[in-house]
Amino acid sequence: MSYAIIGAGNVGKALAKAFARKGIEVALASRRSPEELAPVAKAIGPTIIPKSLQDAVKAEVVLLAIPFNTYQDVAKAAESWQGKTVIDVTNAYGVSPEELGNRPSSAVIADALPGAGLVKAFNHLPAEVLAEDPNVGGGRRVLFLSSDNEEATAKAAELVKELGFAPVGLGKLAEGGLLVQARGKSWAPLIFQDVFKKGE
Ligand SMILES: NC(=O)c1ccc[n+]([C@@H]2O[C@H](COP(=O)([O-])OP(=O)(O)OC[C@H]3O[C@@H](n4cnc5c(N)ncnc54)[C@H](OP(=O)(O)O)[C@@H]3O)[C@@H](O)[C@H]2O)c1
Repeated sequence: MSYAIIGAGNVGKALAKAFARKGIEVALASRRSPEELAPVAKAIGPTIIPKSLQDAVKAEVVLLAIPFNTYQDVAKAAESWQGKTVIDVTNAYGVSPEELGNRPSSAVIADALPGAGLVKAFNHLPAEVLAEDPNVGGGRRVLFLSSDNEEATAKAAELVKELGFAPVGLGKLAEGGLLVQARGKSWAPLIFQDVFKKGE
């Protein structure tokens, strides 16, 4: 499986640290060139590969760690999104519900990526917590997954486990997924909840 993180800010770097901890190769891209991103990637680990946005979106699994209102730029960067799994890490905090047609922000992004299976995950914790080792006190830090696509959810859950977290499915974006979506200037109840799971 090939992976890419789009966005090399607080969250992009935190996700890259999680990949580096497990020695999993992942492309890292933003508006900056691969040369500009090289020192950022090098400081995180040898499995973090700086790439251009256009090259990075060729990955089978693409994690979006960008400001919500830039998703259309990323959507345009791939020739096709068909068959890809996209993990939406964005929070549309401060975006008015009317602007989103009163839909979950992740459903709005999914519409812009035809053929991709979109899963919302990794968005409910602050970057500094996401960057930490998820194995704590004999338990694994929980990540909530919501999606309208079961196949993509299964792939995202595999990645979440490989990174050492415990996936917990919430169901569809407009159902359980609403528990992890920002709405206007409010946060849904599961955002910021740092939960751990013991056992399988
Ligand atoms: N901060 C948190 O604790 C946290 C936690 C969970 C989720 N989130 C969500 O994660 C997302 C990123 O947050 P952040 O704090 O990491 O933001 P950030 O530090 O400002 O980083 C944003 C990154 O996105 C890149 N970017 C911006 N526009 C782009 C475009 N058009 N194409 C490609 N890359 C672009 C930036 O690129 P350059 O490198 O070129 O500047 C930068 O690397 C947001 O949606 C936020 O709501 C944040």
